[in-house]
Amino acid sequence: MTDNQTNHTAPKQGEIILLLGSGGREHALAWKIAQSPKLEKLYIAPGNAGTSNAGENVAMKADDFAAIREFVLTKGVTMVVVGPEDPLVKGIYDYFKADEALKNIPVIGPSKQGAVLEGSKDFAKGFMQRHQIPTAAYRTFDGTSVEEGCQFLTTLKAPYVLKADGLCAGKGVLILPTLEEAQRELREMLGGMFGNASSQVVIEEFLSGIECSVFVLTDGKNYKILPEAKDYKRIGEGDTGLNTGGMGSVSPVPFATKEWMKKVEDRIIRPTVEGLATENIDYKGFIFFGLINVDGDPMVIEYNVRMGDPETESVMLRLKSDIVDLFQGVATQTLDQKALEFDSRSAVCVMLVSGGYPGSYRKGLPMTGIDAVEGSIVFHAGTALNAEGQIVTNGGRVIAVSSYGANKAEALAKSFQEAQKIEFEGKYFRSDIGADL
Ligand code: AMP
Ligand code: GLY
Repeated sequence: MTDNQTNHTAPKQGEIILLLGSGGREHALAWKIAQSPKLEKLYIAPGNAGTSNAGENVAMKADDFAAIREFVLTKGVTMVVVGPEDPLVKGIYDYFKADEALKNIPVIGPSKQGAVLEGSKDFAKGFMQRHQIPTAAYRTFDGTSVEEGCQFLTTLKAPYVLKADGLCAGKGVLILPTLEEAQRELREMLGGMFGNASSQVVIEEFLSGIECSVFVLTDGKNYKILPEAKDYKRIGEGDTGLNTGGMGSVSPVPFATKEWMKKVEDRIIRPTVEGLATENIDYKGFIFFGLINVDGDPMVIEYNVRMGDPETESVMLRLKSDIVDLFQGVATQTLDQKALEFDSRSAVCVMLVSGGYPGSYRKGLPMTGIDAVEGSIVFHAGTALNAEGQIVTNGGRVIAVSSYGANKAEALAKSFQEAQKIEFEGKYFRSDIGADL
């Protein structure tokens, strides 16, 4: 073919991507996807006030499969990327596979069966046991075995870890200091404290160590390990007070050395990906390994079937490779042929939250100063545009200020400095993110 003929070839059409979700994680994913030369058009459903800078928001719920179907077919969407776990646990992957018109449109995210790794703690524990993946010792109880559960608790040492089996929006794990409290809570949980989600309860051994989130993108055969991160779950400084969705994140994590990550890959990641394949579980998407470092050895606290939030708001900064190219590798099971490049700088995210969060808080409060932020990246988590087109708060976690730095300290100093510029009534953030590392 001559150069002349090449010039006349129609340009290869880019991807038309629909990203589902509306939080800071989705804004960070949208920001990264929008940088891809392989992208033709990005839609985010429902998105937030920030995602509209990276693509076009669509007023559609992330789990309204019928509306998604209609939209995908009308707009010629070529790929669907799923941010939160909900649509996955409800089976969006399988919904596409079972539909003649949708079945060739890749969904980045696991099948319903794969999503059970996050949707059922009992399933996840059984899976780890079957594949010799290091995790805390456990037993599962239900309404017919309350007394056995109370008896089992007497064989463990304090503190006691109780986990509702099903999805509880991050509230299903209780860590209790005394046997009496643990037995009382177990009775309450099995008595319907979290509805169906706690019809089974996992009781497990308490593990002591520092946590680390490790992310993998898999096509079901191959996998790529993304930059790791640490998140800060408690509302108060020094890791005190109530659990939140996450108050900030840091990447890289100093104790996640090459040697430690090799243990993670050999003992946890590879057995997980191979275990999914052996059990014929269709899994093409992110796996989030919630790990804990116990005396130098990684153990699994939990699996999630999506990226972490607020980890994504630092991890995306460190991913140099084209994420759409990686997604294409997932869709065509050619991830082994894709290159993965990291930014060697540190990246951090500091989350600005509403006063009162994680308890009750106000919404609709006007925000100022976002445009004054310079040199950091602002990811919206809970924002909306009001009738006058002004950005207002619309959630507990409102906005993430993410920064690069030559090291963690430099990146954090930058985020804290820029976080001061954004104002809304009751604004709060933790000024000790990363300080423990
Ligand atoms: P999960 O929803 O399973 O991630 O649990 C929420 C949090 O509870 C984790 O991030 C840990 O901080 C803590 N946690 C869960 N399981 C254990 C355990 N076996 N030992 C110690 N802490 C735990
Ligand atoms: N940052 C923890 C999570 O996304 O579940």
